[in-house]
Amino acid sequence: MPSWRAARRRMLRLAAGLLAACLLAVMLGRYGPPGTRGSAPRRRPFALEPAPGAQPNNLFWFVQVTDVHISKFHSPTRAPDFERFCRETIPVIQPALTLATGDLTDAKTKNTLGSDQFEEEWQTYQTALKRSKVMEQTKWIDIKGNHDTFNIPHLKSVKNYYRKYSGWQKDGSFHYIHSTPFGNYSFICVDATLNPGPKRPYNFFGILNADQMQELSLLAAESHNSNHTIWFGHYPTSSIISASPGIRMAMSSATAYLCGHFHTVGGLLPVLHTRHHHGTLELELGDWKDNRKYRVLSFDHDLFSFVDVTFDEWPVVLITNPKPYLYSSSAHEPLQRILHSTHIRILAFSPSHINSVEVSIDGVNLGNAVQVSAHLYVLKWNPQNYSLGFHQIEVIVQDISGRNTTQVHTFAMEENLSLKFGLFASWLLLTDHYIWVRTLFILTVLIQILLLIFFRYRRTPTLKQPLGKAVRISFSLHVLSKIDLFYYSFLLLTLYTVLGPWFIGEIIDGHIGACFSFGVFVDGHFFEGSITFLIALAQMLFFNLPLMAYTCWCLFLRCQGHCFSSHLRQVRQCWVVPIHFCMSLLFLWQVYSCYFLLMTYGTMSFFFSPLRTWAVTLTLFLFYRTWRLQSSMLRTFILEMKNYQTSK
Ligand SMILES: *[C@@H]1O[C@H](CO)[C@@H](O)[C@H](O)[C@H]1NC(C)=O
Repeated sequence: MPSWRAARRRMLRLAAGLLAACLLAVMLGRYGPPGTRGSAPRRRPFALEPAPGAQPNNLFWFVQVTDVHISKFHSPTRAPDFERFCRETIPVIQPALTLATGDLTDAKTKNTLGSDQFEEEWQTYQTALKRSKVMEQTKWIDIKGNHDTFNIPHLKSVKNYYRKYSGWQKDGSFHYIHSTPFGNYSFICVDATLNPGPKRPYNFFGILNADQMQELSLLAAESHNSNHTIWFGHYPTSSIISASPGIRMAMSSATAYLCGHFHTVGGLLPVLHTRHHHGTLELELGDWKDNRKYRVLSFDHDLFSFVDVTFDEWPVVLITNPKPYLYSSSAHEPLQRILHSTHIRILAFSPSHINSVEVSIDGVNLGNAVQVSAHLYVLKWNPQNYSLGFHQIEVIVQDISGRNTTQVHTFAMEENLSLKFGLFASWLLLTDHYIWVRTLFILTVLIQILLLIFFRYRRTPTLKQPLGKAVRISFSLHVLSKIDLFYYSFLLLTLYTVLGPWFIGEIIDGHIGACFSFGVFVDGHFFEGSITFLIALAQMLFFNLPLMAYTCWCLFLRCQGHCFSSHLRQVRQCWVVPIHFCMSLLFLWQVYSCYFLLMTYGTMSFFFSPLRTWAVTLTLFLFYRTWRLQSSMLRTFILEMKNYQTSK
């Protein structure tokens, strides 16, 4: 027997190892090489000319800022800083255009739980634009984020303040062409915000239905003759549910997709950049809200570069030739031009005069770049010297105020080298999160239901020595599943989590809706589930399953003849206290979520919430019944336990 058990253990370990290896292989396959450079076929052969030289031509740059979150309740410096950004930073950088990619306002209530559109926040935003006259300095394109669409019954509603107070004022996706003497550059906006707009948190994911995808495909087709296409939107592609052929496919001809929304996960992942399979870069930008981030991007002889910087940190430095290898795409850019270029090119910006732009490659100082226009600095070089392998360029820019900035990156001119984006950033940006969350949720539901049914219809075995952990667990599951009250309660709770409305209430003020695990109904619209599955999964993992385990444990103690007060005295404290403590915490979380509901969706949803307020009541009832259950209902199990204890 022991050898069989050892063999089984070995098999299990082997299976676990194989599973882990498969997962890793999938991860690497998906997020690893050949992700470094675009693998899609080229649209057309790229001309070697014009190649970057000493002239300040074939060059323009633009700026992105995101998640501004102007709030009337929080962070009093956020809006004034933003106005200063418009009034001081933009005139220094002089971008051809500026993209503000959503969440212009915070739209959260004072306690940060509820959400609503506040006209004051929008007025503050508009005042910043007007007083700074930023729209005379740059083409200002601002779009909506999920916060800008909280609690909006329809686009024509007065609550849709975006229409009144933003710079751009037009809802929906669009195509803007920036025309220059050296070519056309397309900017396509993806508007995946929900209409109507539910209150938080149910618009954390964007949705693009078949019609909207059709429209985007048309815009993509329109942009085919442009030198480059940039797509931008609020949501990263991993938080958009899109109809066929999928949002990443639709933007495969784009050089880059610029977005916000994730706030670089509260600063945990400061660099959230990756590349799609077709070569399109996906570049999430950190927020203005807490981190005061913005981004400067450029096309220099059709080579794309960008740098993410922090407000008020000068000089801002962007090396446009040679560009970083990691962000190069042979499918979208004429990369051979680097090898044919005559000059290293650097954009440098500062409110003070710039003193020096010092360039070195691989630690060898090449000298100072010279200024050829307001912001462009060039230095003659011989790219042939660097035609093999990786090289590192370092540029130190100093202004007369003594501030300096160092920019370093790795470049290369060979085609088939490999550099990778961070695995975790790629995972976060390339996974359709609603799919794995949904799968995991359904799995946990199945596991719980199968456990209940299995133990209900299996004969309870007689207890034998040794009374190991597995035997105790299975015995307690037998007890729980065979008592109707508990069996049906847990079955109902979990089936209800899947099927029933969690709550009914004003999903939008004045518009009743219902929330399910699989989506949200409001005002005759249905929004496919996404964040709902995440909440449902949390409900399963942090409530339904732990509550069942806890009830099993209590029932087991009951079978051993304990009552509530006796088990507290007699059972080993090192177990009892933590178990009750953990369960109380999980219970408190459930109580808090009732409060959250009250704060976000109002009184009605608080009372019509089978999965919240009612479930809390059910829990208290189950707890009471567990300890006050008549011994007669447990008789067979208590006898079984007694037999075992006397036989011992
Ligand atoms: C933009 O595209 C046109 C047409 O293909 C081409 O003639 C022009 O050189 C391109 N511009 C740059 C800067 O490469």
